[in-house]
Amino acid sequence: METSNDLSAWWMPFTANRPFKESPRLFVSAAGVHYRTADGRDILDGTAGLWCVNAGHAQPRIVEAICDSARTLDFAPTFQMGHPSAFELAERLVEATGRKFSQVFYTNSGSEAVDTALKMALAYHRVRGEGTRTRLIGRERGYHGVGFGGISVGGMANNRKWFGSLLNGVDHMPHTHDPARAFTRGVPLHGAGIADELERIVALHDASTIAAVIVEPVAGSTGVLVPPAGYLQRLRDICTRHGILLIFDEVISGFGRLGTPFAMDYFGVEPDLMTVAKGITNGCVPMGAVFVKAAVHDAFMQGPSGAIEFFHGYTYSGHPLACAAALATLDTYDEVGAYANAASLAAVFEDALHALRGRRHVIDVRNVGLVGGVELAAREAQPGARGMEAFKRAFEHGILVRVTGDTLALSPPLVIERTQIEQLCRVLGEVLDTIE
Ligand SMILES: Cc1ncc(COP(=O)(O)O)c(C=O)c1O
Repeated sequence: METSNDLSAWWMPFTANRPFKESPRLFVSAAGVHYRTADGRDILDGTAGLWCVNAGHAQPRIVEAICDSARTLDFAPTFQMGHPSAFELAERLVEATGRKFSQVFYTNSGSEAVDTALKMALAYHRVRGEGTRTRLIGRERGYHGVGFGGISVGGMANNRKWFGSLLNGVDHMPHTHDPARAFTRGVPLHGAGIADELERIVALHDASTIAAVIVEPVAGSTGVLVPPAGYLQRLRDICTRHGILLIFDEVISGFGRLGTPFAMDYFGVEPDLMTVAKGITNGCVPMGAVFVKAAVHDAFMQGPSGAIEFFHGYTYSGHPLACAAALATLDTYDEVGAYANAASLAAVFEDALHALRGRRHVIDVRNVGLVGGVELAAREAQPGARGMEAFKRAFEHGILVRVTGDTLALSPPLVIERTQIEQLCRVLGEVLDTIE
């Protein structure tokens, strides 16, 4: 099994394929907050898979729901057709936002949710007779998946530079990270003024050309960048003032990661559109969604009644297995008290993470809810090398962390226990001592 030939046919995503296939890391099963490797070791899951398995692995209710659905209704088309669980789920999801949104549009991933939201924003202005609003504003160090829309508004050079000129008419706000505030616990109290850069961008292009602004409330994949207090509210105010739609990309922060249902609840700021994926099904079946405010949805509901209102959708939008998994996931989050557990352990997590201050190579620790970043000093002329070595060494020592550049990101299942959080951070500290 472990020869490079056996592994060669799968071109793996976001992976250094050659070294991986020389020395693979293979999972064969998972339960609770642990993975089991092909060589029989248990690995403590410090990343909820890939920021998605919020209720922990192999939750029986979710497993059963998926199996039942596969037996009963394996697939149903959703163009000009429907099936009950897709409607039931939409209602439950809307309810989960406290009815701040009135509709849900299904996709199969976060990337598709982002591209869907961007298209919705463009079309929204057009159906209202403001077709000049075609510009999209993202942010440096933003990650919005890998579709052409997402990489265009995203701000990660490596995800962009290979793929040509991308979408036209996109601009970027500066990111919110300030290294001078290293080791801030939780939300930084200062720095909200950086949001006013959006005013500058609006003044430059004129509001009449701008359709939407998209941000992750907490930037995850670029190393856990927590926004300063008041920053998101300022973005909200500027967007409202200029008739620009605000999109929160909650693919990571949605479904309890910060101890509240969504980051919009944590920060008390409501976007016009919200994208989700990952935790919507506890990571068990691919699914994403865009939550839509009534005013946006209703703008489309005009014209002849036989006309399709939005020319967009995926074969697997509202797939029965995904809907079944998502319904069971919402029940499971309630049953196991996942969000409340995340909220109550956030302070423990913060303490355990910040105890890494002073350990070898650590130049910053950032956290909010159950998401944290530990930034290491980069090696001379080798950005990312130390982070990658730490990630591999952590795996050898029985913990799964995520590496992004030289930042190690932690986002454990929300059902993790206090002692497991302490174990995660203790082992990580020991690992850092072993690397150069
Ligand atoms: C904020 C954000 N948006 C979009 C995506 C893309 O999601 P997917 O990988 O499901 O396409 C991610 C993935 O990590 C994400 O973190």
